[in-house]
Amino acid sequence: MKSSTARILIDPRYVVTSIDPRLYGGFAEHLGKHIYTGMYEPSHPSANSNGFRMDVIDLVKGLGMPIIRYPGGNFVSGYDWEDGVGPKVHRPKRLDLAWGVTEINEFGTNEFMDWCGLIGTEAMLAVNLGTRGIDEARKLVEYCNHPGGTRLSDLRKQHGYTSPHAIKTWCLGNEVDGFWQMGTKTATEYGRLAREASKLMKGVDRRIETILCGSSGRTMPTFGKWEWESLMEAYDQVDYVSLHTYYDDHGGDMASFLAEPENMGDFIKEAVAVCDAVKATKKSSKSMMLSFDEWNVWFPENNLIDRSPTWPELSNRASDIYDMADVLCVGGMLLTLLENAARVRIACIAQIVNVLAPILTEPGGPAWRQTIWWPFALTSKYGRGQLVHTPVVAPVYDAKNRDAVSVIKSVTVFAETVNGPALHVFVINREPSGLPVDIELDIRGTKAGGTFVHHCIQHSNLRTENTIHSPNAVMPTVTNHPVEEAGRINLSLAGWSWNLIRFGLAG
Ligand code: AHR
Repeated sequence: MKSSTARILIDPRYVVTSIDPRLYGGFAEHLGKHIYTGMYEPSHPSANSNGFRMDVIDLVKGLGMPIIRYPGGNFVSGYDWEDGVGPKVHRPKRLDLAWGVTEINEFGTNEFMDWCGLIGTEAMLAVNLGTRGIDEARKLVEYCNHPGGTRLSDLRKQHGYTSPHAIKTWCLGNEVDGFWQMGTKTATEYGRLAREASKLMKGVDRRIETILCGSSGRTMPTFGKWEWESLMEAYDQVDYVSLHTYYDDHGGDMASFLAEPENMGDFIKEAVAVCDAVKATKKSSKSMMLSFDEWNVWFPENNLIDRSPTWPELSNRASDIYDMADVLCVGGMLLTLLENAARVRIACIAQIVNVLAPILTEPGGPAWRQTIWWPFALTSKYGRGQLVHTPVVAPVYDAKNRDAVSVIKSVTVFAETVNGPALHVFVINREPSGLPVDIELDIRGTKAGGTFVHHCIQHSNLRTENTIHSPNAVMPTVTNHPVEEAGRINLSLAGWSWNLIRFGLAG
């Protein structure tokens, strides 16, 4: 088999920006089997006294998520937060119009905060700006964050939470431009509402940060204009603009599928351009940051909003099963987030358990890692520190959705580790015929020697999934190699492979 070659130039002195660890956030929505039988299943053998599945908690911990968004998503646009607090016997069941199910409200804000406490993660809460408004939003902040001595903060104490939850990051609604959203609005209507909601919420607790909903996707006719109009109303009151994107596999056209992370990069750059245009127009000194708070692979056949007349309490919606090909796209999207780390400060993979998720569960049965758990966990672990400029010289290919796609996608992170400074080089081989690519890492300005560690995720069959019967079919290999020539590493990357090369810079 003929391979092609690529050079990756790395000079650790060329630091682009520091990486906000919140790039490795997650998203938990009341949708499908995410909350119920995913995170919460009191009858499960691993459940703790709160009904949380501890087998799931162990797998979520492995993802190293510093922040998790909750409770939606489309769900939040019809959610009354008061239904989900206080004694469970008094909590009402409600129709959830977002997903056509009955919400039992056994899991709500306080349960989520307890769950986050067990993971060791920060919460990012969304307020309902679909069917509700500024009053309910400010009341939720008071309930969660005010220390005590008011009706709502004392109510929280009565519910068993003496200390405030101190939730710092708040989403101002969800995908408000979407026709599917409860309470869809125009950009100007939404911009005013978001501005006033943020003003009141910050009035209750001035330490919080708020996220304005950008358009619900780059392909929306509203994209661009939506950001402009809503930011013209709310720029001074908000701290981030959200972006959402999901890609499908183009019916198995790998060349196009694996080009999507580059389209995601263009999406980010376009959003930055609009934010900066508003900044210039307003003569503001503040640069708006981005929160890419929904991203993943999502197959359209699972995307239909069918409504059962029985309004079941559980559904299988968006229970996508991922394979080896998805490792490469999800891994590539993570590298795109890193490439744009100067402006993307928060990102949340959508979602975590059972719904577009790195983790699957069987009610009453086991929990296991989907294929995409691996690139996420490894990037989250090793992709922290400083982003290093990483020019790549490699062959390119033309795909149906994009021209001149480099067969190699690579990002380098400079990290301070317990063993001293190190470089972590992520490399995806997306050569469209599945050929190996020989790479040469040219590490300038260092005398990097000794050994390097190579993590590789690869499978001869791109359609391989991790199933309940074969949960480890796709997982990384880890090998150690000597650096034969100081400052230079040569390696042959298997066809369609995700790779991480780590080496120390000490000595
Ligand atoms: O993550 C699934 C759904 O996708 C979310 O509820 C919504 O915000 C988006 O359309």
